[in-house]
Amino acid sequence: RTVYVNGQYLPEEEAKVSIFDRGFLFADGVYEVTSVLGGKLVDFGGHAKRLERSLKELDMAAPVDMDELLEIHRQLVEKNGIDEGLIYLQITRGAAADRDFAFPPEDTPPTIVLFTQSKPGLADSPAARTGIKVISIEDQRWGRRDIKTVQLLYPSMGKMMAKAAGADDAWMVEDGFVTEGTSNNAYIIKNGTLITRHLGNEILHGITRAAVLRFAREAQMTVEERPFTIDEAKEADEAFITSASAFVMPVVELDGQTIGAGAPGAVSARLREIYLDEMR
Ligand code: PDD
Repeated sequence: RTVYVNGQYLPEEEAKVSIFDRGFLFADGVYEVTSVLGGKLVDFGGHAKRLERSLKELDMAAPVDMDELLEIHRQLVEKNGIDEGLIYLQITRGAAADRDFAFPPEDTPPTIVLFTQSKPGLADSPAARTGIKVISIEDQRWGRRDIKTVQLLYPSMGKMMAKAAGADDAWMVEDGFVTEGTSNNAYIIKNGTLITRHLGNEILHGITRAAVLRFAREAQMTVEERPFTIDEAKEADEAFITSASAFVMPVVELDGQTIGAGAPGAVSARLREIYLDEMR
């Protein structure tokens, strides 16, 4: 696999980052995951915009402008022959001279790394036909979840808690309300109304979320952006998650309790179809 690191395209074995990199020592970095469908980047513009915002919120410099970034994405898709899959991008504050909590001098070059993950069949995932199971866990992340940082230990632990409980993923709960999934946004459908948490610092502003809400409104669905509880979700007709890697993925079980008919609901399935049609 050919990867990109700090201005160079290299075989992955030759790509190197310093042990003093702030991403490694302090999780001082941001990332994006963009999907590829039919060799085409999905919503690159949305991801580039959110990346710029994440960088700005953390006072971090962009090592390349967004046109160059698009070109790097395209080059990697081509060099690795990606038809369906993902592109991971990470930017960190770079390598400091030593381990120091304070940010390094402003002229410290940031680190930028991109790699591809080929995932044939990503859009035709069997999980989309059966739906996934989630459990609820407490949301113990920091307060700026709107910034896409590489600080992903708690979401990783959440995934492991889900696996241990025989489920696929976890929905996180704060002050009685669902924030989001470990790596996706969370939705329920009740009496035809699509309900998902409003934007704020408590959740990541999903690029897939923005597109799905737009398509839902275009299809004349009622959309409510507000918090919902686990109890409300258990009583819902349908539930699903969205992310760049899952697109629209039905949720059929929550804390061991069946949602709706226990199979992907019609609205979730329709939104997945619309999303994939529009993005392909
Ligand atoms: N995760 N919420 C969280 C906490 C996420 O990590 C993600 C994305 C999303 C969905 O955002 P988007 O639709 O822009 O992918 C919501 C990526 C896919 C990941 O960490 O792999």
